[in-house]
Amino acid sequence: MEQLETTLAAIAGADTIEAVEALRVAALGKQGWVSALLKSLGGMSPEERTSTGPRIHAAREAVTAALTERRSALENAALDARLAAETADLSLPAPAAPRGTVHPVSQVMDELAEIFADMGFAVATGPEIEDDWHNFTALNMPETHPARAMHDTFYFPDQDAQGRSMLLRTHTSPVQIRSMLSQGAPLRVIAPGRVYRSDSDATHTPMFHQIEGLVIDKGIHLGHLKWTLETFLKAFFERDDIVLRLRPSYFPFTEPSVEVDVGYTLVNGKRVVGGGGDVPGGGWMEVLGSGMVNRKVIEFGGLDPDEWQGFAFGTGVDRLAMLKYGMDDLRAFFDGDVRWLGHYGFGALDVPTLSGGVGVRA
Ligand code: DAH
Repeated sequence: MEQLETTLAAIAGADTIEAVEALRVAALGKQGWVSALLKSLGGMSPEERTSTGPRIHAAREAVTAALTERRSALENAALDARLAAETADLSLPAPAAPRGTVHPVSQVMDELAEIFADMGFAVATGPEIEDDWHNFTALNMPETHPARAMHDTFYFPDQDAQGRSMLLRTHTSPVQIRSMLSQGAPLRVIAPGRVYRSDSDATHTPMFHQIEGLVIDKGIHLGHLKWTLETFLKAFFERDDIVLRLRPSYFPFTEPSVEVDVGYTLVNGKRVVGGGGDVPGGGWMEVLGSGMVNRKVIEFGGLDPDEWQGFAFGTGVDRLAMLKYGMDDLRAFFDGDVRWLGHYGFGALDVPTLSGGVGVRA
């Protein structure tokens, strides 16, 4: 069987795993010569088979053994080469620990998205460069409305193609209009994002963050609003003893409008959200503006207010972060001081989840 010798010699000389594999296929594969010989056994006389059979089987064994040996020799050589090439210098200093942190505002926005997603709210966004129609007019603040003056708006010098004044949005409420116009009803969205007002002191910065909520559906009433806010605040502050007080108020885009106060308790002279309210040692602080969406706003959103009702709310994200995590100067949020960020920031892997507790500290 000279094929056997040729094959064994070729295997011994193969210098890659691929070459070994090609030789295996040529000998033992379906079309291989060993397989052809094995098949030929069937057509032989019993005598022939007795004499030739063992030789064919022996050839198969020899080829198989040679293949295995050559393959493992090549694998060992490859491993040796890798071990020789890769070195680990154990005297090098350990790599620096990661220093970046997630800003508390980003963390709180993620917490809010998680809490509201659980109640069926999607996240909506709108542009920070807005026009005065979306920011004011469609929210029931016509040109002469006094509330426009209260917003300390940053205007751009030029108007857009439709002759609308351009501005930096003063609140996230225009996303209400954009969501109604683009998605129709029913609707359940939150809109977190940056807003701008010309204002600056310890509790005001020219840029800050708000989150807006909007629900549009049939038969929506103030009870739905109160339940939603209570459920949200309990999840956010991770306490069951949250008490709310709804106070009549005025916003052009809601009717009726309510301001929402949350009860606090004094702990070491600091206001801590939870419990409190009208009890000794307790008090109220305002956390949200809200109300039933004004009929005119529903119309500006392209919907029929006789068919659709809704509630809306808006609040400051920075302020929620301060209340939950205990910072007392808003300006430090935007200084970019790495010591502040290291102290108040969150680990990149500390992703808020309801099951894990929305805001575990780094
Ligand atoms: N847009 C208001 C502000 O900037 C906050 C607000 C109040 C939003 C009441 C609402 C609302 O959606 O219903 O101060």
